[in-house]
Amino acid sequence: MTGICAGRVAAVTGAGRGLGRAHALALAAEGARVVVNELPGASVGEARRVVEEIRERRGEAVVHSGDVSTDDGAATLVATALDAYGRLDTLVNNAGILRDRMLVNLGEDDWDAVVAVHLKGHFLPLRHAAAHWRAEHKAGRTPQARIVNTTSGAGLLGSVGQANYAAAKAGIVALTLVAAAELARYGVQANAVAPAARTRMTEHTFAATMAAPQHGFDAMAPANVSPLVVWLASAHSAGVTGQIFAAEAGRITIMEGWHPGPVTDKGDRWTPKEAGEAVRGLLAGARAPGVVYGAGGSGD
Ligand SMILES: NC(=O)c1ccc[n+]([C@@H]2O[C@H](COP(=O)([O-])OP(=O)(O)OC[C@H]3O[C@@H](n4cnc5c(N)ncnc54)[C@H](O)[C@@H]3O)[C@@H](O)[C@H]2O)c1
Repeated sequence: MTGICAGRVAAVTGAGRGLGRAHALALAAEGARVVVNELPGASVGEARRVVEEIRERRGEAVVHSGDVSTDDGAATLVATALDAYGRLDTLVNNAGILRDRMLVNLGEDDWDAVVAVHLKGHFLPLRHAAAHWRAEHKAGRTPQARIVNTTSGAGLLGSVGQANYAAAKAGIVALTLVAAAELARYGVQANAVAPAARTRMTEHTFAATMAAPQHGFDAMAPANVSPLVVWLASAHSAGVTGQIFAAEAGRITIMEGWHPGPVTDKGDRWTPKEAGEAVRGLLAGARAPGVVYGAGGSGD
């Protein structure tokens, strides 16, 4: 097949539905052979349907059944690409879950489950893929490898009722920056996308926009996020690494990260009272942080 991913092999985690499904279909439409990962059980049936859809459109794809928050799931994901197609060029980390609770009610299980699927579920496939790419580089076959991670506005700005999810998604941003810095020497680029789309995860959030598409453009369709992901996944994105993007409808935003703001230096140790006065002075000249999602003054 032709397309900007022709000849490449991409693995997409959590690709049986939602954004992952859209990314898998879009990657295949641009010529990539795709490993469609899903959780074992009912979800892997969804992944099989995605593979069938890709094959019906004359693309190539295989299913991988595995939990990417486990080392075995991550290792076999990479092994499936190598066994089926003899190579891996792109890893799209996308799998995710929600267990929303206000902080005071957030139990350890809900914390662990969300951090495991998102943060560990990004790290483990990334580590297995990176080990493969380092071996390729050492063998003189430096790849044009790409990692596309999935963060969220919740991870960038915070989100009321989502402390576990926001913390995991913020962790994914830091993981992306480290991966970009560490893996460049092996021919690997790493970027992250904060999407917004109507999926099982957000059907209530975006309920108001679930009405009929305006002017034939369904703004909240997951497929609107995929073109950016496909380009980042391709060799065409050479030189773009360590970047965080927001993607929603027809909009792509470069998210600019933490930069030092106003600073003061006493040249000696502060007293707490002095430090407080200095901080109040600095804050007066500092840019206000973005509003945390859901903190819009409901008063409760
Ligand atoms: N939809 C949005 O607006 C939105 C906004 C910000 C971030 N995101 C992120 O986008 C990604 C995709 O979310 P979505 O909205 O398509 O949700 P979704 O629930 O439709 O899809 C997530 C998929 O991940 C799979 N999955 C869950 N745990 C897994 C595991 N351990 N191993 C393998 N697969 C697993 C699920 O079975 C599901 O098919 C998530 O990382 C999510 O946090 C989505």
